[in-house]
Amino acid sequence: MKNNKGTPINILNDNFGRSFPYLRLSITDICNFRCSYCLPDGYQCNGKPSFLSIDEIGRVVEAFATLGVYKIRLTGGEPTVRKEFTDIARRISHCSSINQLAFTTNGYRLRDHAQEWKSAGLTHINVSVDSLNAERFHRITGHDRLHDVLKGVDAALDAGFEQVKINVVLLKGVNDHELEDYLVWAKTSPVSIRFIELMQTGDNLDYFRKYHLSAEKIGRTLEKMGWSAKPRAMEAGPAQVYTRKDYQGSIGLIAPYSKDFCKGCNRLRVTATGDLRLCLFGSQGISLRHLLQYDAQQPLLTKLIHDQLAFKSSSHFLAYGETGITPHLASVGG
Ligand code: 5AD
Ligand code: SF4
Repeated sequence: MKNNKGTPINILNDNFGRSFPYLRLSITDICNFRCSYCLPDGYQCNGKPSFLSIDEIGRVVEAFATLGVYKIRLTGGEPTVRKEFTDIARRISHCSSINQLAFTTNGYRLRDHAQEWKSAGLTHINVSVDSLNAERFHRITGHDRLHDVLKGVDAALDAGFEQVKINVVLLKGVNDHELEDYLVWAKTSPVSIRFIELMQTGDNLDYFRKYHLSAEKIGRTLEKMGWSAKPRAMEAGPAQVYTRKDYQGSIGLIAPYSKDFCKGCNRLRVTATGDLRLCLFGSQGISLRHLLQYDAQQPLLTKLIHDQLAFKSSSHFLAYGETGITPHLASVGG
């Protein structure tokens, strides 16, 4: 639904004055990487997974679009391990109200597929690059693939994605001294590099205690180096973005433990098996799948989603170590 200026009207609002134009849709929880903070032992198959089919995905997207969602991010696990990835993207991009179709990837197939994915209608991409040192990258992710992933980022830039973001999870004593190298990259390349504070999940408590580092220090360092914090736009995501005029790229900091982080929440999540999650760290998910079986169920589906918003809480309780039902981010899409 659009107003007379063609801007989508958002119908999803919660009790705290927030609205939700953005859906993160996981299409698989399988991942081929073993990032030490997420799936250190690799993906553990739990019976035969039954992820949403393309038709079910189409219906869930149509319902959210009717409710004013115009931005979708495909996540996983690793979304590109699904062999229908390109078809899924094409299906969603045909939905006329979706004007941003993003995905988050570890980049392992990007070099060979960037152009194809761009042509299928994907517009924005986030690639995880937790170190610019090949050996350290290998140690963190379990894969000696830094070179391939960086070639993939170049391919994405060449393919003309509207935005190429690089995610770096900050790890104390592991990659926190690499800031300079990332800045060198941002000098000549229009990438938006975002340092993300490590989040505690159900499975990583010891790891979290050992490696969590606040992003604040990086902010202070950037300011001393002449970078300026951009005022936060209404529509912006959770990152505090820094720019410097002689740099093509930008730097963002994502600090989920900071006060007020949740005030700007503008996103909802659906898991790969069709559960609606109101918060990454919430304690419940409600299944939508029974209403994804026929087109005629759309009114019931949109009503269910709409009515669930009343249960979205004001904030996560991560500061108290409450991680909800999220064992690791591969299970819900980071
Ligand atoms: N804390 C912070 N970021 C995480 N990611 C995965 N697990 C965590 C965590 N515990 C990141 C990945 C990827 C994105 C999907 O989420 O590195 O960039
Ligand atoms: Fe895979 Fe992403 Fe988890 Fe790494 S962080 S193991 S790439 S899902």
